Amino acid sequence: MKISVVGLGYVGLPVTICLAELGWTMHGIDINSNKINMLNKGKLTQYELELQELFVKNRDKITFTSSMDPISVSDIVIITVGTPSKKNKADLSYLYSAFKEITGYLRGYTCIIIKSTVPPGTNEKFESLIKEKSGADFDLVFLPEFLREGSAVYDFFNPDRIIIGSDSKKAIDMIKELYKPMGNDKKFMVTSKLSAEIIKHASNAFLAMKIEFINEISDLCGEIGGDISEVSHGIGLDKRIGDKFLNPGPGFGGSCFPKDIEAIINVARDYNVKLPLIENTIQMNNNRQNIISERILNTLKQFKDPKIAIFGLTFKGETDDCRNSPSIKIINNLLKNDLNIIVYDPKGMDNSKQFIQGNIKYANDEYDLVKDVDCLVILTDWNQIKKIDLVKVKILMKNNIIIDLRNMINSKEAVNLGFKLVQIGKKQISSDNRLYIVNEKEDVQL
Ligand code: UGA
Repeated sequence: MKISVVGLGYVGLPVTICLAELGWTMHGIDINSNKINMLNKGKLTQYELELQELFVKNRDKITFTSSMDPISVSDIVIITVGTPSKKNKADLSYLYSAFKEITGYLRGYTCIIIKSTVPPGTNEKFESLIKEKSGADFDLVFLPEFLREGSAVYDFFNPDRIIIGSDSKKAIDMIKELYKPMGNDKKFMVTSKLSAEIIKHASNAFLAMKIEFINEISDLCGEIGGDISEVSHGIGLDKRIGDKFLNPGPGFGGSCFPKDIEAIINVARDYNVKLPLIENTIQMNNNRQNIISERILNTLKQFKDPKIAIFGLTFKGETDDCRNSPSIKIINNLLKNDLNIIVYDPKGMDNSKQFIQGNIKYANDEYDLVKDVDCLVILTDWNQIKKIDLVKVKILMKNNIIIDLRNMINSKEAVNLGFKLVQIGKKQISSDNRLYIVNEKEDVQL
């Protein structure tokens, strides 16, 4: 089978390269000609763990183009264009134009797969509309994508399930064939398009709710003295709860959770259905970065004109994506207080610039970042920060405060070295063995 992927973003590009790894001949299509030029030169247009190696390995199985010509020779066309949020609703204009472009190129029977996340009800409407207008021979399948940025390659090859939203046997068989090299026979679940759309949104809403839940419990731990790492581990051992997505932090971000939650709330509203759990989840998350900013400001009160270093600009580790990054929202809050800020991120520095509202300095690496600063704030869970040499950091910093909002730092080592370490959902112990509790109101020394 020949396959085209339309839209080479954070989902489309990994999907194209991973399908080539499965042995398929791939055509990657994107209207952005700069992107196509770079890909044709062998350069990836986004950072994604393990993708570069896979790209080099499968380069000869993929062609990249801005033209729609490959559609006419494709058995399967996968659409992965963006559906960004516009006035709290999913903006489907890229999807409409992709369809407008491709329908004229369809030859013979084609299985069209939509992987872009669209609000419940969209796929059914799209299929009838296009069948009416174009007369082409195709089936439209909704195949929701569950890849996470930063672990897209791992997720592609290790799916928990492959949901096929379709009632066409021909299309379902083609999709099973597509994934056959992975031997995922038992992972398929066939549903209606509408159920598949709801599964996609409900999965993201549930995961987001789980994060807000653990953030809430971490606040309780921080105040009364439990340790959120122990608590997360303890509750996660119950298989009914599961141990994933129980890491507290500055709230969830990215291009998916906030957008998809707003979209499902809006669809429910259209049908006069209330979703109070999901509505609260998004409200709590929207406020989370303000609460965290206050905590940072309280900890900094002890300094007259503090210089602070911030590690992490992306919405999570192992990606260069800064869209809806909690880190950037917090930085913008801090900038309103005229703070002297220097930042570093392993891959997100360029992308961050369009979102930062104020003057900050950019460091060359994590050690350049901490030179002469009073406080280091860790906002993104990059693996790199776990390996930081704290002895070196202690020598470079002017003062000794680390505010670790992802609980990445080895607390025993930091405290032994004389840092005052503030972590999330834990009582803070300083080198003088005193307990510090940092809360919204004040920084109390016991
Ligand atoms: C999310 C879903 O996890 C994917 O299954 C889905 O395919 C994707 O959205 C999508 O709809 O396209 P993604 O947004 O790439 O993936 O990243 P996640 O790993 O889910 O992280 C989302 C946010 O939650 C990040 O800001 C992350 O830092 C935060 N998070 C995650 C936590 O604060 N704690 C956790 O325990 C886990």
